[in-house]
Amino acid sequence: MKARIAVLAGDGIGPEVTNEAVALLQRAGDLYGHHFEFETAAIGGAAIDATGDPLPTATRAVVQRADAVLLGAVGGPKWGTGAVRPEQGLLGLRALLGTYANVRPVTVLPALAELSPVRADRVRGTDLLFVRELTGGAYFGAKSREQGTRDQGVVATDAMVYSEAEIARVVRLAAGFARERSGQLTSVDKANVLETSRLWREVTTRVVRDEYPDITLEHVLVDSFAMLLIQRPTAYDVVVTENLFGDILTDEAAVLTGSIGLLPSASLGVAADGAVRGLYEPIHGSAPDIAGQGKANPAGAMLSAALLLRHSLGLERVASAVESAVFGVLNAGARTADLCSEGAVSTSEFGRLVRERLA
Ligand code: IPM
Ligand code: MG
Repeated sequence: MKARIAVLAGDGIGPEVTNEAVALLQRAGDLYGHHFEFETAAIGGAAIDATGDPLPTATRAVVQRADAVLLGAVGGPKWGTGAVRPEQGLLGLRALLGTYANVRPVTVLPALAELSPVRADRVRGTDLLFVRELTGGAYFGAKSREQGTRDQGVVATDAMVYSEAEIARVVRLAAGFARERSGQLTSVDKANVLETSRLWREVTTRVVRDEYPDITLEHVLVDSFAMLLIQRPTAYDVVVTENLFGDILTDEAAVLTGSIGLLPSASLGVAADGAVRGLYEPIHGSAPDIAGQGKANPAGAMLSAALLLRHSLGLERVASAVESAVFGVLNAGARTADLCSEGAVSTSEFGRLVRERLA
């Protein structure tokens, strides 16, 4: 097949890990007879430096005409938290593409279980699939800052808003994954306090009861789930939750695996006509402290490329081969600097090992 892939490397370690993901896709295309065309564009801090805008018009055009988007990371202390921020580029992109579900697989490889700060006997066998709502909640609700009374000073608001339709569509996607996996779905909310969470719970219960009666649904409060995730991560399979809870819980879940550098993500949206829009990125940030030193772990970016092959291009066989190659290199003992104190392989060396293994 032919596919056009937009490449938005972004900031910090974004470019170096994205390079490895692109080289891997190129190799996979050559081996399996597919032609991938790559079109690069600026996002985040790099785009602010070049144009003053974290999501320039030219970048919007590139992603709109692509079959899928590969992204590195955005942000860094250089750009601060002022009115124009790199993160706005990423949030704008999620909104533009309508990618309302962020899928984050969290798998603990047997070979890496000892590297987890949580006891190996607890994390071994962990295989979670987080589905985080991505275009609603406090991230996208009305924001304001106004002068309060004299003793209050300035008052800031981020409205957390959810509609039934927004909840139902992400729950359907998560329930679909649960059906393909263990048939077990955990929904995480804060229904004892938040109105949005009470609606979340009602809609989730109804969608699963009416449309996925074969699935077992469990509701867990977010504070309790934060604890259970560390205590017994193997007790869960597919986890669906709202935007902010999902942001926090997936960073926490990443710790179980030994390094956040290992984890990929797919941000998916199903348009009204059934077309899938996909944005693929590692879940780690831009790590400006190690940028440009060849220390970054490209596994999260490379596994994101596998998700792109699977979800946007429907190339399941190639996607599995890419995942086996990445896991194979890790199982064979190659470690980037985030996973060991000595004998680390560089970012590009790790990438080369994966490409060799694929062949
Ligand atoms: C993530 C990141 C983003 C988020 C930031 C960079 C805006 O933390 O993808 O999890 O909060 O969604
Ligand atoms: Mg995050």
